[in-house]
This record gives sequence, C-alpha cells and structure tokens, in this order.
Amino acid sequence: MAFRDDFLWGSASAAYQIEGAYKTGGKGPSIWDDWTHRPDRTYNGDVACDHYNRYLEDVALMKEMGLKTYRFSIAWPRIMPSGTGALNPEGVDFYNRLIDALVAADIVPMVTLYHWDLPLELENRYGGWANKAIVADFEAYALACFELFSDRVKHWIVMNEPNIFTGLGYQLGLHPPGLMDTALYLKAFHHTALAHAKAVIAFKSGGYEGLIGSSIAYSPSYAASEQQADLDAKAMYDACGPDWFIDSYYKGIYPELAVSHYKAMGVMPEVLEADMAILKEAGKLCDFIGINYYQTSLIAHNPLDGVGFSGMNTSGKKGTQSESGVKGLYKHVKNERLKYTDWDWAIDPEGLQMGLELLHEKYGLPIVISENGLGAYDEMDASGVVNDGYRIEFLKEHILAAERAVANGVDLLAYCTWSFTDLLSWLNGYKKRYGFVYVDIENGTLNRSKKQSFEWYKKVIESNGKVL
Ligand code: BG6
Repeated sequence: MAFRDDFLWGSASAAYQIEGAYKTGGKGPSIWDDWTHRPDRTYNGDVACDHYNRYLEDVALMKEMGLKTYRFSIAWPRIMPSGTGALNPEGVDFYNRLIDALVAADIVPMVTLYHWDLPLELENRYGGWANKAIVADFEAYALACFELFSDRVKHWIVMNEPNIFTGLGYQLGLHPPGLMDTALYLKAFHHTALAHAKAVIAFKSGGYEGLIGSSIAYSPSYAASEQQADLDAKAMYDACGPDWFIDSYYKGIYPELAVSHYKAMGVMPEVLEADMAILKEAGKLCDFIGINYYQTSLIAHNPLDGVGFSGMNTSGKKGTQSESGVKGLYKHVKNERLKYTDWDWAIDPEGLQMGLELLHEKYGLPIVISENGLGAYDEMDASGVVNDGYRIEFLKEHILAAERAVANGVDLLAYCTWSFTDLLSWLNGYKKRYGFVYVDIENGTLNRSKKQSFEWYKKVIESNGKVL
C-alpha cells in the first residue's frame, strides 16, 4: 500500500529558530530572547534567518519544491506581546501575510501554537508553565489564533514537544527557565497537558473546521537484553517517558507504574480528578497524534550508584556522548547495531516503523510525523554546491519505513522533514544544519541556496513517495 493521494509532504520550522526581528514589529520579549542574551551566551535568534523579512523568498522556494504543507509556529509574544490582552496588529499582519502567501502557492499551512517562545512577561509574572494560571492564558491565546486564522488554517498542532521543553527547562536546566527540579518538571508538564486539552476543547466547541492535535518528541525504546533487570528498566523508561507524555495527551491518564514511582519519590504533582476529566475529554476530540521522530533509545538497568544525567553532545564531536540515565531506574546506552550522527543521535529508520505501528495499535488515531531529519555539518563547496547525500539517504530510509508502517495499517496523514531552511538549533547554534535550503550564516548574507536534497525531495513529492 502506498501513501494516500492527499498525503501531505511537508517540511517544518519554528518561529524563534527562523524569524529574527526579535524586537521589531511590536513583538514582546520571549523567555528565549532573555535566555540567549544572558552573559556567556554565544548565539541567539535576534536575526536568525531573517524569515520575518524574507518569508516571500522562502515561500517561493517551497512552491518551487512543490511542498504540500509547511509547518511553522506562531510566536505567542509576536501577536500578544505580554502574553495576555491586546493583540499586536503588526504581528497578526505578519502571520496573515505568511498564511496568504502559502495558500496562494497551494501549500497547506500547518500551524504550531507553541514552539517554546513563551512571552517573558508570563514567566516573570507567575513562573510560566510552573503555574496553573498559564492554562487559562494559553487557552485565550489559542482562541485568538483560531479566530484570526482558522478561515485558512485547517491543521493545528497545539504544543510542540511538551516533554522536551519541560524536561530541559525544569528538570535538566538546559532550556529556560533553567531549573533542576523533578517535581516542578512534572507539574509544568501537567499544565501543558491541560493547556493543550483546553485548546482542543475550545477548538471543537467553537465549531472551527479542521484537524487538531499536539506533537510529542517520540523515542521508542528497546531493552538492552532479555534479562529481567533490563526489561524492567525499559518498562520504567516507557512509563516515565513516551507513555507518560502520550497517554496524558491522548487518553487522559498517567501510567500507574510511573505514578507509583513519582509518589514514592514525593514528586508527583497535585492532579485533580477534574483535570483528568478535561484531559480525557480532549483525548477523545483529537484528530491525530503528532510525533517528532529522530531516534530510538536502548535502555538498560541502572543501579542506584549508576549514572545520572550526564549532559548532551552539543559539540558535534561524534562519540562524546556518555551513558546517561536515572539512578536506580534506567539508563540510555549505545546501540551497537546502529549508526550515529555527529551529535550522537541514533539513526534508526526501523524504529520509526516500530513506533508508528505501536502508536497505531495503542491509540488508533491517524498520525502526523511533524518532524524527522538529520542534523549535520553541511558545507558549500567552491562552486556553490551543497552535496548532502547523507541527508537524502537518511530521509529516504525513513520514508521507506513510514511506507511500511502505512502498508501495515497506520493511517499516516503527513510527513514533515525538519527543516525547510537551515535554522538555529536551540542548544547547538547555527552549525548543526537540517535544511533543504542552505542559509549563509558564516558570511552574514543569509542568502538562500538549494542543497542537493532540495531537488531530491521535489521528486519524492511529485511521485507521492514512489521515486526515492
Ligand atoms: C526538536 C524541536 O526537538 O528537534 C526542534 O522541535 C529542534 O525545534 C529539533 O530544532 C532538532 O533539535 P536540535 O537540538 O538538533 O536542533
């Protein structure tokens, strides 16, 4: 079985990573503007790829490629500078112009409502996602977006990777607000689930036409061996990881195994019955599960005196990632069966097929692959060519894996690569590139050039995935 006729071949981005114009056009500051302007920071999104000013050039390239959908995010502080209240007409106008340009180019706009750039004012006023007050403010923001754009936008992704921005922001201290507190992480995550749920319910009860869901960073797992200790470790990783994130968003439950563990640790947040009723209601209303898939995890037993979180490879030096985990529970270990990227991310197309089939079996919903891609050191040669054959290979294998999952019954609606143009990587700056379109950051011209993968993906789209 092949991809459906109306399959959405796409590519994705996020506002902070491409727009720039961080304080023009009436935009308010976000937590990422604040974070990247702290002393000792070496890069920021002040200008990024200047998409705010060059969006027409970017949309023209998308049209040339024949892209069916473009996934981008709305910067909350661009349209509501302080997070609540009055709209910023210039910000609204920017997204109206972008959406209109996409529609005119026959490209379906797929809009993410939250891709991590929280209005700074909400962080300062009440602690952002750690405070339940954010749920109502987010719902109001989401409703404003539905009112403004749903005449043309029919595909909505409410949250992007709530598991990553709360995990890295509240537990590992790597994203703003830079905290390391497991209880706060779980609380903040719960608030994202509620905010997602309220937005979904508002969308459906408001009678807006279109499809809605959220995107979870999804790393399906394998146990390192058949030994009971590794199988138990995998069960705990699944419960605290993918199941925690996806069950709460799409079933309105938190997995028992993880709840017992978090209660025993004294970090389980207060979860009201009324909250769970809201999550359940929204779970039934979602039209699809969004996943961002980059890699799988190989999970092994981790003794009490084992490894804790040991950082991420942000140097791009292959082989520098050490084992990392939660003491007494589980750890991520190297999968010798797989190849790795320069940033030590496991390359595992079969893992995508396995993950899609697991999700299909467990949740029975259509699926949107909202991100998949390869971060690499791309280089332009003297004649202006960027030969990213390794990216073509990576994407090809993942598309084939997705196709096998479709043949096995998965209802796949869309496949978005990460990313269309090169852009800012939150923890790696501009050297880790993902795009079909090379952006000249080094010389500061920000000129766009098509990489070899550009022409390749064009043919993939034209043939609906038959020519790879
Ligand atoms: C996802 C995010 O986590 O992965 C993107 O949604 C991000 O915003 C992408 O850029 C790739 O991550 P990284 O760290 O390689 O830039």
